[in-house]
Amino acid sequence: MTDIWENYADFKSNSILSSRYYAFIAACFKEGIKTVAGSTVFENALDIACGAGDNTLLVADYAKTVTGIDSSEEQIKKAKSNPALEKIQFEQADFLSYLPDRQYDLITAAWFHNFIHHEADHKKVAKKIASALADDGAVVFLFPSDSFTSVKSTDYFRRLDWQQAWYENQADSVRGLFSFQGSPWDIMTCWQPLFLFEKYQPYFELHFLDTKKLCVEGGFVDESYLNPTFEVMYGRKRKGL
Ligand SMILES: C[S@@+](CC[C@H](N)C(=O)[O-])C[C@H]1O[C@@H](n2cnc3c(N)ncnc32)[C@H](O)[C@@H]1O
Repeated sequence: MTDIWENYADFKSNSILSSRYYAFIAACFKEGIKTVAGSTVFENALDIACGAGDNTLLVADYAKTVTGIDSSEEQIKKAKSNPALEKIQFEQADFLSYLPDRQYDLITAAWFHNFIHHEADHKKVAKKIASALADDGAVVFLFPSDSFTSVKSTDYFRRLDWQQAWYENQADSVRGLFSFQGSPWDIMTCWQPLFLFEKYQPYFELHFLDTKKLCVEGGFVDESYLNPTFEVMYGRKRKGL
């Protein structure tokens, strides 16, 4: 079977524009972890939908032991064969059917929630993350913002060699197709950030990172004046769950 993510790592660095865009994403993901960590050094962290593991490496700066899981066999192979990631454990697994075998005190996910296409599955994911998390454990989620599906972002992404076409606009989500660097087309669902907040907040005390501030302060404003195309939501597990 073709792995749509086969060329994702190349795509992320195939131009100065791509590298800058993904550096901004990494900076915000890392800031989310740093913010939720405070003075905590996490023991065990889990990165869901870790892909080839480059963002998982950022998690490793804040946790003694890190596990990355991804449903793509090829991405896990790539991660396992990267010497820079040798201290991280990688496992092929679909999080929807994954049975965590231990408790974690940090669970992260970058660009995962947009591959959960049904509201009922978000309930399952939220519950599963909460039960895999130790008391007072932390979460950091990065997912598309409102801007992701705009005409302006679509034009900008085309310059990165990412194509997208939206065919279903609902109050809680926008659904469409994407392809990058000639990959097969696949479906993604960009959930409204406040919808995700509402679904996950029964389990976690959640906050949004100010990604626009990070964009300005990190020097990521360029001539396209693109609003951040993603949100970073972070927080701690609610007490008594
Ligand atoms: C856009 S990539 C992001 C990879 C990585 N987090 C990053 O930021 O580079 C999305 C990843 O989600 C994975 N994925 C999608 N649905 C998944 C699921 N149900 N369980 C585990 N991984 C999943 C895909 O295989 C893919 O590697």
